[in-house]
Amino acid sequence: MKRILILALALAMGSSCLQAKDTELHIIPQPQSITMGKGSFKVKGANFNYDGTLEERTVKAIASLADELYVATGKVSSIACATGVNARTPLGSLKGFYFLKDTTLAPEEYCIEINGKAAKVTASGHNGFLYALMTLKQMMPVELLAGKLAGGVSWNIPCCTIKDSPRFAYRGVMLDVARHFYTVDEVKKFLDLAAFYKINRFHWHLTEDQGWRIEIKKYPLLTEIGAFRSGTQTTYDRNTNDGKRYGGYYTQDQIREVVAYADALGITVIPEIDLPGHMLGAMASYPWLGCTGGPYQVWTRWGVSDQVLCVGKEKTFEFLFDVLDEICGLFPSEYIHIGGDECPKTSWDKCPACQARMDELGLKADERGTRGQKLQNYVTKRIQDHLAGKGRKIIGWDEVLEGDLAEGATVMSWRGAKGGKKAAGLGFDVIMSPNSHCYFDYKQADSDDYVGVNWKRHQLPLEKVYSYDPYEDLDETAQKHILGVQANLWTEYIRNTNELYYLTLPRLCAISEVQWSAASARDFGRFCEKAKAHQPIFNILGYNYFPLAEPERKNTK
Ligand code: ACM
Ligand code: ZN
Repeated sequence: MKRILILALALAMGSSCLQAKDTELHIIPQPQSITMGKGSFKVKGANFNYDGTLEERTVKAIASLADELYVATGKVSSIACATGVNARTPLGSLKGFYFLKDTTLAPEEYCIEINGKAAKVTASGHNGFLYALMTLKQMMPVELLAGKLAGGVSWNIPCCTIKDSPRFAYRGVMLDVARHFYTVDEVKKFLDLAAFYKINRFHWHLTEDQGWRIEIKKYPLLTEIGAFRSGTQTTYDRNTNDGKRYGGYYTQDQIREVVAYADALGITVIPEIDLPGHMLGAMASYPWLGCTGGPYQVWTRWGVSDQVLCVGKEKTFEFLFDVLDEICGLFPSEYIHIGGDECPKTSWDKCPACQARMDELGLKADERGTRGQKLQNYVTKRIQDHLAGKGRKIIGWDEVLEGDLAEGATVMSWRGAKGGKKAAGLGFDVIMSPNSHCYFDYKQADSDDYVGVNWKRHQLPLEKVYSYDPYEDLDETAQKHILGVQANLWTEYIRNTNELYYLTLPRLCAISEVQWSAASARDFGRFCEKAKAHQPIFNILGYNYFPLAEPERKNTK
């Protein structure tokens, strides 16, 4: 009820001739500039006009807003190619909604101008138009987003000019579907949320000790065996096990479906095949992949297994190249994530094949690293070269920087920001994803007892996420290597989408401002007001969240 009153008040304010304040707009992430005008634009129909040169996927996205407006206002919608107008046509001579291409704008930049009669959107490409649509949606009644306004409704949006473009080109979120599995529909809903906050990269963590989640035609056992485990750790105690078979995987058709869905939302999907550690899912399927030959089990507990790929055997590389070739066929992304984190070298120390490989390569322990470290560098380089042959670049977790890393690799900093800072200083491109600010599997508050089981020792409050400065301690040259920022959702302790969104929201809103908004435009107090105003959106769209107002403890167990 309170929500409806607030909405009515906001709409009434918008309809007067007074100049509204930009704080009445609750746009997340904060746009680069908002200039408020006088009066408002009454949305009472859906007269949409678009540039005939727009891509089909852009026209589809525009048409879907037109449809929503049509359902809400009950007015016959018209969506047509605009004739006789272009991006230079003054706003004053337009009537209705216009989506016009302006090739002078940067790829993700957009501009929205609204007066009493028209809303004119300009952008140079798909993502710019999408972000304008997301901003417009955030200016509309919440109920519209869920298709819950029907027939004869009209409302006002304030006259204003919004000019906007992102701070960082790489704005990512990672979902681990290996520790706990999320269906195609669940992944799509996660992508919808990411797109709403102008996130443009989905890092899909597909393989782990606890499960292999992607169909590979040449190696069917990866999903027949590797996608299922015999039980799951149930508490923080690693010796617990519920004894229930658990698993799942995506067929290649489903992968293509998700990649296409993400593309329509302006999101590039970056798959991760984590190697040479975190590979028990594969080793349980094909035991010859390990140093001892197994048998291995898909892991039922969390942590870091000391059983890793045997990289002394050439057959292991054949396997990896085959898998990555299929991955390249499924994912058009320029980047393929090859993991590289948490790889204990103990099994290599005891393995004759791995020792022989080290000897053959002449690897010697020195101040740059142990022989094992250098063997991992060799693995990274071979994978990097193979992918380069297919026109792809690698991303690796910051462990890949230890020892020697070849030019052209991108480092994802997770053990704090220090690895990323070092890499940027050395001239490597970097994605900042420090666990200090970007690990959303950590609980949000000390008192947080919502999630039955969690990383008890780790806490990441909203304000800390919001305060993150990816440029801290970096000079201008190093700053240029920071491609962007990513939030990570590891799912050891995230068992379902209720828990997923409780941990994701509103921290995803906070990271979206770190990724998108100018540092000077960020204000935590104002952000909290906006995030509270987004809670009705989460409610109506069915996303659970950590409540900012009127905390209410629920338990999903
Ligand atoms: C990681 O959190 N192991 C990248
Ligand atoms: Zn070996």
